[in-house]
Amino acid sequence: MNPEELIALGVKVRENACADYSHYKVGAALVTASGKVYTGCNVENSTYGLTVCAERVALWKALSEGERKFTQIAVVTSSEPPASPCGACRQLLWEFCGDIEVILANLQGFQKTLRLSKLFPYPFDQSTL
Ligand code: THU
Repeated sequence: MNPEELIALGVKVRENACADYSHYKVGAALVTASGKVYTGCNVENSTYGLTVCAERVALWKALSEGERKFTQIAVVTSSEPPASPCGACRQLLWEFCGDIEVILANLQGFQKTLRLSKLFPYPFDQSTL
């Protein structure tokens, strides 16, 4: 999928972030092998610890709809340079999506594309067990 289109979806869903505690909004747009897009925003709550990142919200939505093959994810923040997925999200994206293309983008129009294996080298996964 065209990165600009995907980033636009990430920008839009980022507005739905429940970020009352950090005030840091994140939007993610995850593409399946068939070209369908599942979006997600970060969801915080008063315990702080039960926060779920935007990437995982998008991933859970897709997995729960039966999706199992993915090609790309865009992550949109307001950071300069753009933020990249946290460690927990890298682990889960790796396990469920494999070596997908990760597009890091911000509202200022900066973007960087790289493979997940670059962000998450030498992983622990099913093949290790
Ligand atoms: N956050 C994400 O949604 N994705 C990331 O990859 C990094 C962090 C969220 C979690 C929390 O709601 C806020 O950003 C600040 O950490």
